[in-house]
Amino acid sequence: MDHRTPVVIVTGASSGIGNACATHLAKRGYKVYGTSRNPAAYTKKADEFFELIQLEVTDSASVEKAVAEILAKEGRIDALVCNAGMGIAGSVEDSSLEEIRLQLETNFLGALRCVKAVLPGMREAKSGRVILLSSIAGTMGMPFQAFYSASKFALEGMLESLRYEIRPFKVQACLIEPGDFRTGFTAARREVAAAATSPYKKYYDAAMGVQVRDENAGHDPLEVAKLVARLLEKRGLKIRYTVGPGFERFAVILKRIIPGRAFEFVYRKYYKLP
Ligand SMILES: NC(=O)c1ccc[n+]([C@@H]2O[C@H](COP(=O)([O-])OP(=O)(O)OC[C@H]3O[C@@H](n4cnc5c(N)ncnc54)[C@H](OP(=O)(O)O)[C@@H]3O)[C@@H](O)[C@H]2O)c1
Repeated sequence: MDHRTPVVIVTGASSGIGNACATHLAKRGYKVYGTSRNPAAYTKKADEFFELIQLEVTDSASVEKAVAEILAKEGRIDALVCNAGMGIAGSVEDSSLEEIRLQLETNFLGALRCVKAVLPGMREAKSGRVILLSSIAGTMGMPFQAFYSASKFALEGMLESLRYEIRPFKVQACLIEPGDFRTGFTAARREVAAAATSPYKKYYDAAMGVQVRDENAGHDPLEVAKLVARLLEKRGLKIRYTVGPGFERFAVILKRIIPGRAFEFVYRKYYKLP
């Protein structure tokens, strides 16, 4: 990035990790455009730090309009932090195709729409950074969050391919894989309709009980924001950065080094599953 004030777009900046990123980057001197599906409902004084504009990641026209608006005002977008997302919980069998589509539309295709909208400008400028918020769930299948994991695995695969393609144009991209952070994510998570009467309910309740406990004890999202700021200022980006509670980062390493069934055993015990 050069001496001009860098322009950054942070999707999903009305809450949690996105809000922490937008605020932290604005305080560090970036020109930040945060996004929300409903900016009017946002009650914090966003305008003290960053502008909040309307963007619905499941709607291509909305994404293109938001990006065009920033380009018209600023002439360029130096970085995209693709953070907007949500979770759906329920067993594979109980999840309807409609519920599964919404998960993938939001977390995978939603991020992809944003990436596709900013790439032409970055490619022409021969400069730019894209940071995708994956998750530790993008490195391992979480019990009863199969399609949340699938949406993040999809992001991980796409990003690995994308890096080869954008390198000649001097555009860089990476993944951030957070463990648990205290945000609006837990309250916003949708339970699939059939979960309440499911034959899986006992196991679902056990595993999700552990999950929610860990999320409530999660770290401050400012930790992710500080990592994002470092990644925007660093020379070369690695493919992925894991951030969050130590035992969760350790699980990512453990999964890589021990046999698959041994890892499953540890995870089953942890999530109180038979
Ligand atoms: N919290 C964690 O422990 C954790 C762990 C790993 C990964 N992550 C990832 O981090 C990202 C941020 O999550 P968070 O924890 O900060 O959750 P959060 O507090 O619920 O914030 C989610 C943000 O995404 C936006 N959003 C949701 N659906 C959207 C849609 N269809 N179109 C546009 N914006 C949408 C929301 O904005 P509006 O409602 O205002 O539109 C909100 O600002 C997600 O991608 C999540 O998967 C979180």
